[in-house]
Amino acid sequence: MPIQISDAIGAVMTERLQQLQDFIDATEAAAKARGPTLPIVTPLADKIFSALSDLHDHDPDHAPQRQPVCEHLENAYSQASGAPDPVPEMAKAFAALEPYLNWSPKPGTENEPNGFFQNHANASIVGVGGLEVRDDVRIGTSLVAPHQYYPRHNHPPEEFYIVLSPGAWMHEDGPFQELQAGDLFHNTPYVWHAMQAGETPLLAVWCLWTKDA
Ligand SMILES: [Fe+2]
Repeated sequence: MPIQISDAIGAVMTERLQQLQDFIDATEAAAKARGPTLPIVTPLADKIFSALSDLHDHDPDHAPQRQPVCEHLENAYSQASGAPDPVPEMAKAFAALEPYLNWSPKPGTENEPNGFFQNHANASIVGVGGLEVRDDVRIGTSLVAPHQYYPRHNHPPEEFYIVLSPGAWMHEDGPFQELQAGDLFHNTPYVWHAMQAGETPLLAVWCLWTKDA
């Protein structure tokens, strides 16, 4: 049974929900641990996590909601549990925060082919649509059912992903690249990208710098 955020911490936030702070800390640790494998992520991660040391108000209208695809979460967590440190810790922090998330399909995808609408969901964590209202940073997550394709898209903010459960990523209309739990993936502004889940559900966290976008 999801916990209503408004019941847990009230309409005006004086301190960050502990599960959210733990998730932010674990995500920063995972990004920093793998930063040397993709150095372009480091300055972006530094900017994002240093901004997040400044607390913003909780969104009083935020209400938890799950989607049918969330039945794949436990499988995704088990993929992350076998990854190198500190990815299992990040997955545990994600699982503790997950009951607070508002999962929904990408808007406007009702008529996408191959069951996309029913077989994926996104949830914003901080920034637009998330638990904490702010316009400088947006962090969220995508869950894609096994074998499901997540169509190509782009957006103005620079972003990086941290993979929690494996899948394949496409960048700039190049070939799909298999990524494992803990791997990073980076997108410059407006670059086209897409995802493809394999045998296991794909679960990833995306972190965007939205202030200048
Ligand atoms: Fe993206």
